[in-house]
Amino acid sequence: MSWFSGLETIVRTDVPLCDHTWYRLGGPARWFCLPRDENELAVLITRLRDAGVAWRILGGGANVIVRDEGFPGAVIRLTGDVFESVRFEPGGVVVAGAGADLPRLVRTTLDHGRVGLETLAGIPGTLGGALRMNAGGRYGEIGHFVGWVRVIGPDGRVQQRSRAQVGFAYRHARLDDCVVCAAALRLPGGDAAAARRRHREIWLEKYGSQPALAARTSGCVFKNPPGDAAGRLLDQAGLKGTRVGGAEISRRHANFIEAHDGATAADVLNLIALAKERVRATTGIELEPEVEIW
Ligand code: EPU
Repeated sequence: MSWFSGLETIVRTDVPLCDHTWYRLGGPARWFCLPRDENELAVLITRLRDAGVAWRILGGGANVIVRDEGFPGAVIRLTGDVFESVRFEPGGVVVAGAGADLPRLVRTTLDHGRVGLETLAGIPGTLGGALRMNAGGRYGEIGHFVGWVRVIGPDGRVQQRSRAQVGFAYRHARLDDCVVCAAALRLPGGDAAAARRRHREIWLEKYGSQPALAARTSGCVFKNPPGDAAGRLLDQAGLKGTRVGGAEISRRHANFIEAHDGATAADVLNLIALAKERVRATTGIELEPEVEIW
């Protein structure tokens, strides 16, 4: 009996992941799972754990590099009405599902006169992915707004974790042992028109200094080391425009790698290794990837 017997309606086999990542690179997932609600998700995770099958949750695919060989386990996507829901509650609370598209969530809250998420303008991905790595930029990060996060814990049960329990830090949250299902964000009212203007300004600033939206990238490749900027270090090391196969270090912002036609995931990974080595050799600083490599 296979690990997913009885779950055939939500489990597919050998699904190409290049259709699901911003890089549009990488091989297939052995299994690709689309649970429709938290119960199905909990059952799925328990089965995978009991069968010893490796699994990952795929958000918007904005921060992941899938190897050309693909992923030999199960990839789970949280789509559909339950996981993409957004609910406005009294007291400035917005409860959203992990699968909610972050840029759309930002715009929806602004349209409802809620203030705060404009600081996350231009950050791609889903709410779940953003929470997992406390996505943010110069003007703010998602963890700042969190009231609680509802997760499926390591025991397969639903739990609620407070912001303090999650311990948001720079590109980090204590959510590695669980799956995020939903979260409550605290967004007070305020000057909604000013927030919408700010949203537009930040968005324009980012797209003036970063590769075009149409470019195939995974956002910033490396985390900023304490007190410095990875983009500046990579730039100073003379890496802009450096190519391996079809992968190129962006000429606009050195912490982005663009995939051109014909690029493979191996090209991107080899270019990451080359850039890391060059920065280590010139500055002694050890850059750590921000992207996940599957
Ligand atoms: N810089 C260079 N050369 C470059 C790129 C940057 O010299 O090619 C310098 C800039 O002049 C600046 C410094 O490096 O002095 C920092 O650059 P920037 O202001 O562009 O911000 P960043 O630290 O590189 C961070 C986030 C971005 C986010 C921006 C804007 C990280 C690793 N990156 O970039 O997030 O969009 O701030 O808010 O924290 C992402 O997470 O994927 C991402 C792109």
